[in-house]
Amino acid sequence: MSPTSHLDDVYYDPYDFSIDADPYPVWRRMRDEAPLYYNEKHDFYALSRFEDVERALTEWGTFLSGRGTLLEIIKANVPIPSGNILFEDPPVHHAHRGVMARVFTPKKMNALESKVREFCGRSLDPFVGTAGFDFIGDLGTHMAMRTIGYLLGIPEEDQEAIGSLFDDNLRIEDPDNPRPPDIGIDGAFVDYIEWRSEHPSDDLMTELMNAEFEDETGAVRTLTRDEVIAYINLLAGAGNETTARLVGWAGKLLGEHADQRRELAADRSLIPNAVEEVLRYEAPSPVQARYIERDVEQHGQKIPAGSVVLLLNGSANRDERRFPDPDRFDIHRSVGRHLGFGYGIHHCLGAALARLEGRVALDEVLQRFPDWEVDWDNAVQARTSTVRGWEKMPVLIG
Ligand code: HEM
Repeated sequence: MSPTSHLDDVYYDPYDFSIDADPYPVWRRMRDEAPLYYNEKHDFYALSRFEDVERALTEWGTFLSGRGTLLEIIKANVPIPSGNILFEDPPVHHAHRGVMARVFTPKKMNALESKVREFCGRSLDPFVGTAGFDFIGDLGTHMAMRTIGYLLGIPEEDQEAIGSLFDDNLRIEDPDNPRPPDIGIDGAFVDYIEWRSEHPSDDLMTELMNAEFEDETGAVRTLTRDEVIAYINLLAGAGNETTARLVGWAGKLLGEHADQRRELAADRSLIPNAVEEVLRYEAPSPVQARYIERDVEQHGQKIPAGSVVLLLNGSANRDERRFPDPDRFDIHRSVGRHLGFGYGIHHCLGAALARLEGRVALDEVLQRFPDWEVDWDNAVQARTSTVRGWEKMPVLIG
C-alpha cells in the first residue's frame, strides 16, 4: 500500500505558494493522518512530527545531505562544490565544519552587537516621523547583509549587489518547473578572495584562508581557494535571507498581537524569548530535504533507496505532541528546544548570530516605534524554494 493511497485529500506541495502562505492546516493533517507522507507529483516523502524530524536529523548516515538539501537540487542532480558544509556528509562534513566552527564562535558573534545596532539604527532612523517602513526591505535585508558583509570584510559599497544576488537566486519563478538555485562558485567572491589574499585583515575571510585543519584523509592542510569560496557563498546565502525573513515574521506577528508588542516595548528584557517564539512559530527555514541511499522503514512503510525525504522542521515546531497549544503565538511561552535551526550535525552554525540580529533588530525597532500595524495592501509573500516568509512586510507606524 502506498502511504497516500487512503489519504488522497491530504495534499502538500512545497511549490504551491497558496499552501505555503499557511501550510499549518495541511501539516497538522499530515502529522495526524499521514506521518509518512508521499507526494506523487514531485515524488518525495515527508516526515512532519517533531520526534520523527528530530530523529531523522540525527540519523545522518541514512538521511544524507551530500546531494543537496533542497528538493530541486537533489532532483536535478546538481554537482555539489566541496566546502559547502550544508551539502556534505561525514567525514568530510566533520572536517570542514570544524574549521568553520573555529572561526565562527558564539563569543565572536556576540562581539558584533554594537555593529549590528549601528546597522539597524542607520536603517531605521530615516523613518522616524514618517508613515511607515518595510521590515524586510528597509531593515532585515540591510541588517543581515551588512552584518555578514562586515564579518567577511566585503566593502559596504559592494554588499548590496551580493545580497540581492542571493535573494534572486532562491526565488522560484515557475512552480511547475522549479529550477535549482545556482550553488556554483560565484565570480563576485572569486574577486574578493583574490583581493583579500593579497590584503590580509582580521576578518573571517582571511581567517578561513589561513586556518589549518586535519582533513578526512588525516592530512593537515589549509582550505583550497575553491573551498573558501564555497564556504563564503554558503555563509552569504544562509545568513542573509533567513535572517531577513526572521525579522519580517517578527514584524508581522507583533503587528498582529498588539498586546504582546506593548508588553515587549515596556519590558525589552522579554525580547530574547519573543525571538525564540517567532523562530518556533514561523520557522524561516521550515523544510530540509535529505536523500536516502538505501531502503528505510518509517511508520511501517518502506521508503525505497533513491528517494527524497522532506524533513518538515516547521511542522515539528507546531506539533501538539511536543508544544501545548502550538498554534498560539505567545512571547511568554517557555519554548525549550525547537527545530527552527535544525538539529544534529547540521545544526545552524549561525544560530548565535541570527538570535543576536533578531534581538537587536527588535530592540531598535521598539525603541523608535512602539506601535505599528501591518500594511496588508502592500505586503508580498516571498516565493523561495526553501526560506519561507515575506518579500515585503510594510508596517504603518503613524
Ligand atoms: C544550517 C536555519 C541564520 C549559517 C542551518 C539549518 C537550518 C538553519 C534549519 C540546518 C539545515 C539542514 O539541516 O540541512 C537558519 C535560520 C536562520 C539562520 C532560521 C535565521 C533566522 C544563519 C546565519 C548564518 C547561518 C546568520 C551565518 C552567517 C548556517 C550554516 C549552516 C546552517 C553555515 C550549515 C551547517 C552545517 O551543515 O553543518 N541554518 N539559519 N545561518 N546555517 Fe543557518
